[in-house]
Amino acid sequence: MDKPNFGLTGLAVMGQNLARNVARNGFPIVVHNRTEEKTAAFVNEFGHEGPLFASTTIEDFVAKLAPPRAIMIMVKAGAPVDQVIDSLVPLLDKGDLLIDGGNSLFTDTERRVKSLAAQGIRFLGTGVSGGEEGALNGPSIMPGGPEAGYKIVEPIFTKIAAQVDGTPCCTYIGDGGSGHYVKMVHNGIEYADMQLIAEAYDLLKNAAGLTNAQIADVFTEWNSGDLDSFLIEITSKIFQTVDTDTGNSLVDYVLDKAGQKGTGKWTSQSSLDLGVPVTGITEAVFARFLSAIKDERVAASHILSGPGTAFKGNVDQLIADIRDALYASKIVAYAQGFVQMHAAAVEHGWKLHPGEIATIWRGGCIIRARFLNRIKDAYDENPEIVNLMLAPYFNEALTRTQAGWRRTLKTAIELGIPVPAFSSSLAYYDAYRREWLPANLIQAQRDFFGAHTYERTDKEGIFHSQWGPASE
Ligand code: 6PG
Repeated sequence: MDKPNFGLTGLAVMGQNLARNVARNGFPIVVHNRTEEKTAAFVNEFGHEGPLFASTTIEDFVAKLAPPRAIMIMVKAGAPVDQVIDSLVPLLDKGDLLIDGGNSLFTDTERRVKSLAAQGIRFLGTGVSGGEEGALNGPSIMPGGPEAGYKIVEPIFTKIAAQVDGTPCCTYIGDGGSGHYVKMVHNGIEYADMQLIAEAYDLLKNAAGLTNAQIADVFTEWNSGDLDSFLIEITSKIFQTVDTDTGNSLVDYVLDKAGQKGTGKWTSQSSLDLGVPVTGITEAVFARFLSAIKDERVAASHILSGPGTAFKGNVDQLIADIRDALYASKIVAYAQGFVQMHAAAVEHGWKLHPGEIATIWRGGCIIRARFLNRIKDAYDENPEIVNLMLAPYFNEALTRTQAGWRRTLKTAIELGIPVPAFSSSLAYYDAYRREWLPANLIQAQRDFFGAHTYERTDKEGIFHSQWGPASE
């Protein structure tokens, strides 16, 4: 038999599931892990699923692959990726391809693409979304780097990816670190989406007074409309899950401290560098930080007071309003994410295709949602649209939902329930749609105390004034 040319190193769960997905689709694949026993056990257990071949040492792994080799690296982002690359490079031939399928920081990917290209090795920084289940049954795949490298693995990637309406959830993203950048923004949107759902939960529980079973029903119902998405679907299932130890709702036993591995924070950091207001994602990152200072919050809860009022309005109306607030804020979060990707593309010289990104996020990934079809349509209609909120479909949706969105915020503020992502999204919407903002005063203050100068509305030029009443 001819040697395979596709290999995968790093057999943690994501690596294992991706390798099984490749083999199940009939593509021969050689697998490798730092511990040989793990590789042998893996092939022993799953070898019957397809053409999976074990290797022992890294030398044996590379020797079992025919050039041009395509080697997927599935190890923890950061230094481990560099270590694996360094161990592979001396064994490779010019024209071979390395693929990093982890959540690497895009600047690391940019560096690796460049340094490996100088050695004749192609490198694809590839976002893979969908968690363990997606890796096995069809993830969303976001490959970035040299396009010629992508062509080597295109038949495999497009086959193992999730398929929506016959279209694979995988497309070539662009040069350099763009694949990992797009995956990073995907994760940032994931943070915003999760925070918005959590705020809806807080209001359903603490304003509307619903039980977990009722909350599950609300999410199930929402999942049949505009909000239809993976995250809403799993949220409903979470509220239906019973703790086997106590027989009560499991979610109530989960400590309210959110973890994070960094991709949301990176998205916010990059948005600050680019000067793009990505408020929804950033509030979601801050909300996780706030949740993490549990001890401080517990102490403060005995010291600081709130309004101490209960909701007295119509519960059905409130539930409908929360749904509208969630939908509208979600539109804002996605709009901001796409603006950020555009700004990054300009900054880094990437040719990103937002409609194609929306297309490959329709299935496989964590933020998959019916709504992404609408984003794709919006870019099909107008590829140059500067902000998705301006697309007729989303403009109409924001017009339709904003009364409920505003009422939701009023209720939350009256009751003292924190809704940072809902409120920052509305503030963004209200600021973005305004011709005039009070930044004239900020400019005047800057000029007053630091002669930072300002521009005028009535004539061209740069001005500096002596501020203060004429008598001073
Ligand atoms: C995905 C997920 C995946 C991972 C997140 C979790 O697209 O499949 O985003 O990459 O589950 O990175 O991130 P946090 O641990 O930061 O919440």
